Amino acid sequence: MEKKKETMPPGRQVVMSGIRPTGFLHLGNYFGAIQNYVKMQDDFECYFMVADLHSLTTHPDTKELKQNVLRVLAENIACGLDPEKAAFYCQSHVHETAELYLYLNMMAYKGELEKTTTFKDKVRQHPQNVNAGLLTYPVLQAADIVIHRAKYVPVGKDQEQHLEMARTFANRFNHRYGEVLPEPTAFNYNRQLIKVPSLDGTGKMSKSENPNATIYLADEDDVIRKKVMKTKTDAGPTQQNSVKPDYIDNIFGLMKLVSVNDVVAKFEDDYNACTIRYGDMKKQLAEDMVNFIAPIRNKVNDILNNEKYLKEVMEKGAAKANASANATMKLVRQAMGLNYY
Ligand code: TRP
Repeated sequence: MEKKKETMPPGRQVVMSGIRPTGFLHLGNYFGAIQNYVKMQDDFECYFMVADLHSLTTHPDTKELKQNVLRVLAENIACGLDPEKAAFYCQSHVHETAELYLYLNMMAYKGELEKTTTFKDKVRQHPQNVNAGLLTYPVLQAADIVIHRAKYVPVGKDQEQHLEMARTFANRFNHRYGEVLPEPTAFNYNRQLIKVPSLDGTGKMSKSENPNATIYLADEDDVIRKKVMKTKTDAGPTQQNSVKPDYIDNIFGLMKLVSVNDVVAKFEDDYNACTIRYGDMKKQLAEDMVNFIAPIRNKVNDILNNEKYLKEVMEKGAAKANASANATMKLVRQAMGLNYY
């Protein structure tokens, strides 16, 4: 018990999350994950990590890795993540993560790893490259989290199983060697996550779905306009105050994210009065979307053009992350009895 007090000072509320450097960020990421990060960096001690090592499990070719890492950094900073407030760093810059991953691997059983949903999905997608790194992906993720003794992990539903496994490994460690690692839990401010509908009326915007139905932060103005104008509509309602079909509801949903209230209210009234002109609505949405995305896109490009700044961001992030990781690893080695002198 005494140990616990010493290793977890009250009030140190640590948040940790990882972002894979694959693909471009889109509007769904912006209103989902990134806005949460931006809010958290004021309230907690935050570690936000670019998961470059995780990407090697499925993307062994590293030709584009650097560019992808720089882009993820730039996109998140352009969206408001502040490297002065949070530790914003690359996974590969914290070498102790690999050490902790090794220790946690001794507590992870082959059977439970094979049962992981993401592993089974990836085996299906890459049957020719079912490597041990893929199998132990959740162990590396657990190491990322517990190396900062993080309590809160802002992630979406798709990461719940990995988080559950991180708790399992932390608990096994604690039972075997003593209380060092707090149990991490998912966190998102208890408010409903904003759902960003995709442009084709099916589900939400996501990296893997149809790129034509997704607005990326990197999309040029014309591309945004084209994507918005192509969204499905119909001849309009024929009865006043009727329920909206999904694909129409989605257009309203997108409009609520980027247009001012009066504009949304006008089209709601038009819809209810059966006088709505979807062509006009989409033109309005396209312009409001352009006005929302363009400044972010330009900021991303400015940051990407400043490699010196990005290098400083990575160095500063690595220094903060390494300080926290080293402190944990001292306790870990001590608890495991690996301190021989
Ligand atoms: N697996 C996460 C994803 O696919 C990325 C990730 C790596 C992560 N390490 C993490 C998320 C640690 C939260 C905490 O998005």
